[in-house]
Amino acid sequence: MSHPPSKPLVASKSNPLQGRLTVPGDKSISHRALLLGALSLGKTRISGLLEAEDVLNTAKSVSALGAPAAKTGETWEVTGRGVGGLRQPDGPLDFGNSGTGTRLMMGVLAGHDFPAELVGDASLSRRPMARVLDPLKSMGLEVDGDNADRLPLTLRGMADLVPIEYELPVASAQVKSAILLAGLHAAGKTTVIEAEPTRDHTERMLRFFGAEVTATPDEKGRTRITVTGNPVLQGRDVKVPADPSSAAFLIAAAVIVPGSDVAVEGVLVNPTRTGFYLTLCEMGADLTFENEREEGGEPVADIRARHSALKGVSVPPERAPSMIDEYPVLACVAAFAAGDTVMHGLGELRVKESDRLAATAAGLEANGVSTRIEGDTLTVYGGSGNVKGAGTVATHLDHRIAMAFLTMGLASENPVTVDDTAMIATSFPEFVGLMQGLGAILGPAAGASG
Ligand code: S3P
Repeated sequence: MSHPPSKPLVASKSNPLQGRLTVPGDKSISHRALLLGALSLGKTRISGLLEAEDVLNTAKSVSALGAPAAKTGETWEVTGRGVGGLRQPDGPLDFGNSGTGTRLMMGVLAGHDFPAELVGDASLSRRPMARVLDPLKSMGLEVDGDNADRLPLTLRGMADLVPIEYELPVASAQVKSAILLAGLHAAGKTTVIEAEPTRDHTERMLRFFGAEVTATPDEKGRTRITVTGNPVLQGRDVKVPADPSSAAFLIAAAVIVPGSDVAVEGVLVNPTRTGFYLTLCEMGADLTFENEREEGGEPVADIRARHSALKGVSVPPERAPSMIDEYPVLACVAAFAAGDTVMHGLGELRVKESDRLAATAAGLEANGVSTRIEGDTLTVYGGSGNVKGAGTVATHLDHRIAMAFLTMGLASENPVTVDDTAMIATSFPEFVGLMQGLGAILGPAAGASG
C-alpha cells in the first residue's frame, strides 16, 4: 500500500482552545472486536468502531478470510465463522501501516491450515515480526524463509496448535495478544507471563465473547495469563469507547495553549492506558475526570483539561507500557514545562511506525528545544512556556509524530511545519477538523501547491 505525497501542514500560535467534543473509537479495541467477531459464531455488532485506515485494513482482511465485516447504518457487523473456521484468502492481506493488525492476525492465522501472505507499507515492512513469529512457530506455525522477521511474509498455520507457556521478553500487548489468539486454537491451556502489565483488552474481550481466561500473579510479581483452547465464542454487541491515545493530542493542546478549556467525552480510562494522563497530573496539569462510568466492559470518563503552568518530572520505566504511544506528545508538552522532563525505559519507541525516539528528539531540536538521548532515556529541557518553533518536522510515515508536533505548534512562538500529514488517516482522520473546531490554527504551508 502506498500513500500519495501530501501537502505539509503548519500549526501556528492559537487563541484559547475551547469546546466539548468526542474523539473516534479506540484503535486497539476496534482491531480486537473485528478479529474476535470473525472467530465467533453468529453476528457481532460493533458501535463506535474506529473508521481509520489501520482498522479498515483489519476489516478487509477478516472479510477476505470469509468473515464479512461491513457497516450497516451506524453499526459495523461481522459474520463470524467460529474458532478455526476462516478460509484461505484469494490474495495477500494488506495491513498498510498497522503493526497491531498484522501481529494480532498472525496469532489468528497460526490456527488455520492454509497459506496466507501478509504485506504492508514501507514503515510496516521495516518493523520486527520475529517477536510474534518465534512463539507462534513453537506452537506449530510455519513461516516461509529462514529468520523471517519482516513483511512481506507467507504463513501457514495448523488446526491443532501446541499450547505453550511463554514469558514475554518485551512488554508488548501485541505479542501477548497474538499468543492468546493462537491459544484459542490449541488443545489445552496456553499461558503468557508478563513482568509489566500491558493493555488487557484482548483478555477482557475474550472473556466477553465466552472464552476462559485467567490472570493470576505469581511469586515473582509477574502476571500469568492463561487461555483455554477450543472455546465456542459467541458473537456479541461491542461498544468501542473513545481512544485515549487520540484524546491525548487535544488534552495536550489545551494544557499548553494559554486560556484553554477543553473536555473530551467518554474516553477509555482503563488503567493499562492512562500513564500519559497520570504524568500530566504530576507535571501540574489541571485535569479532571468527570462522570466516570463503565461502558462495554471498560471504564470511561469525560476528561477536562485547562491551560496549566507545568513542571518537569521523571517518568519511571515501568510506566512505559501504559503510555507507549503518548511519548511523542508528552515530549512536546514537556518542552513547555519549567525544568527537565526525563523519560526512562523508551527502548520500544525505536520499533514503532518510525524510530519515535529519534524522530521526537529531532523534531524538538528543529524547533529550538534541547534534548538528550542516553540509552533508552530521553530528556527534554523545558522552556517554561516558551518554545521557539519555526522548524520543519520529518514524520517518517508516523501518524503520532505528525500529530504531536502539530499540537506543539499551537503554542510555539513561531509556526511549526510538519512535512507529511497523510499518515494521520491511519488512526485519527478527524484530527485536523476537531482541532480547528476548538480554535486551533492549522493550515497548508504558504506557497504549498496541490
Ligand atoms: C497495541 C500495543 C502497543 C501500541 C500499539 C497498539 C495493541 O504496541 O504501541 O499502538 O493494540 O496491542 P506493543 O504491544 O508492540 O508495544
